[in-house]
Amino acid sequence: MSVEEKKIDVYSGAVLDRKKKIRIQRGSPETGIEMVEYDVEYDHTEVVLDIVHRVQAEFAPDLAVRWNCKAGKCGSCSAEINGMPKLMCMTKMIDYDDVDVLEIRPMRTFPVIKDLVTDVSWNFEVNKRIKPFKPPEGLKELTMQQKHVDRVQEYRKCIECFLCQNTCHVLRTHQKTNEFAGPRFMIRLASLEMHPMDTEENRLKEIKDDFGVMMCNITRCCTEVCPEEINITDNGIIPLKERVIGEFYDPLAKAISWVKKLL
Ligand code: SF4
Ligand code: SF4
Ligand code: FES
Repeated sequence: MSVEEKKIDVYSGAVLDRKKKIRIQRGSPETGIEMVEYDVEYDHTEVVLDIVHRVQAEFAPDLAVRWNCKAGKCGSCSAEINGMPKLMCMTKMIDYDDVDVLEIRPMRTFPVIKDLVTDVSWNFEVNKRIKPFKPPEGLKELTMQQKHVDRVQEYRKCIECFLCQNTCHVLRTHQKTNEFAGPRFMIRLASLEMHPMDTEENRLKEIKDDFGVMMCNITRCCTEVCPEEINITDNGIIPLKERVIGEFYDPLAKAISWVKKLL
């Protein structure tokens, strides 16, 4: 095909010289759910979200999809692409050049509202139950060691895409949403519990009883899908479990921790 014959996307300038069969999950529980197939042209520089937008523009203007930044920072375009939980805006089409069909489904752990849009409001309800940071009374200046700053910064990279919540089998397969807050909130709880200036006394008891940290069996699936590469399991959940065990199940560890506090 000569340069003059190539089809160009008039909005983005993309050169549409490749083709792919795309199957997208359409519908809602009320209307019925089905996979609908589209033949879509694309450019080697494009990402999956571009292709979903092309389907919207050329074939299905009513296709529902949630997105905002197209830069991997708002956390709203989460989906399952050929079975893998990913951000659509950060997933390159060239990674699928050798694949005949691309299947795009909404996150399976959350109820479908329509097409690729799910109801993730359960996560926001869990978040509301977490008590905020409680600094010591009368604190005027906060001085922290660099290692504490680094640790909290890692936790705070979370963009709330909920891909880890979608992947965790405790939520996805066993639906233990009443007992386990999930990896995203283990990370938030870790950022508070391990903050050297947090004085919330019941935090550890709540992490154990209300947020169910001991239900995690350290499969590390959540860490594998995190687009921010937060080491959810090793740097968040395992230290929380160790603290819970030290406080509630190991009298010797508890005594040592009290002695350390006095030194
Ligand atoms: S490591 Fe724990 S939180 Fe992460 S996916 Fe496995 S069970 Fe869920
Ligand atoms: S911890 Fe990672 S995967 Fe989980 S919500 Fe935050 S950014 Fe997404
Ligand atoms: S559109 Fe914001 S993370 Fe993908």
